[in-house]
Amino acid sequence: MKLTFLGHAGVRLQDAEHEVLIDPFLTGNSLAVTDPASLSPSHIVLTHAHGDHVGDTVAIAKRSGATVIAAVEVVGRLAVDGVDGVGMNVGGGADFPFGRVTFTPAWHSSSFPDGTYGGTPMGVVLRMGGVTVFHAGDTALFSDLALVARHDIDVALVPIGDHFTMGPDDALEAVRLLRPARVVPVHYDTFPPIVQDAAAFAARVSAETDAEPHVLAPGQALEL
Ligand code: NI
Ligand code: MN
Repeated sequence: MKLTFLGHAGVRLQDAEHEVLIDPFLTGNSLAVTDPASLSPSHIVLTHAHGDHVGDTVAIAKRSGATVIAAVEVVGRLAVDGVDGVGMNVGGGADFPFGRVTFTPAWHSSSFPDGTYGGTPMGVVLRMGGVTVFHAGDTALFSDLALVARHDIDVALVPIGDHFTMGPDDALEAVRLLRPARVVPVHYDTFPPIVQDAAAFAARVSAETDAEPHVLAPGQALEL
């Protein structure tokens, strides 16, 4: 399984047969290096409706025929744009050709840029190619992240940007609660209010938790 960081909170997951994206925000992301036209996912998973997460979803899905997996409200809104989707909700899991998706709580908000209600913001546990990835979504720190540890997380993607989500101190506590084997910091540096020192965060993950940190530049991949 290969996990490629697309920049911001976006990741591309690929095994021998499948390609799945989470939160692909490329157009308008000055740090992104991936051409959306180079992506051919069968599925796109969205944590919530904010523009820096839905991103290029409509264009990619229309070209590749990808199915969107997201909150029922998000899928309902994207259907108006002609995108196929499977609507789910927080706490629910479902099986797909590539593996399994389970949505978990996230403390945040969720509406489309035009104000359309986007349902509950969520984190996602994605099991694919024998690997369990947890994308925390845009969330504050909350103690029930400890329950997500029951999924035996191989890689946790945690926001460290502060301002809109948890910052580095709270993300470190989230790592302690999640107990993943590896941690990839996300949702930082894209905009001035969320500039962070990811290397310093990684050093603290190494020193203060049992997890192995991986700071990925946009476009960089991790083999799992
Ligand atoms: Ni958000
Ligand atoms: Mn965001």
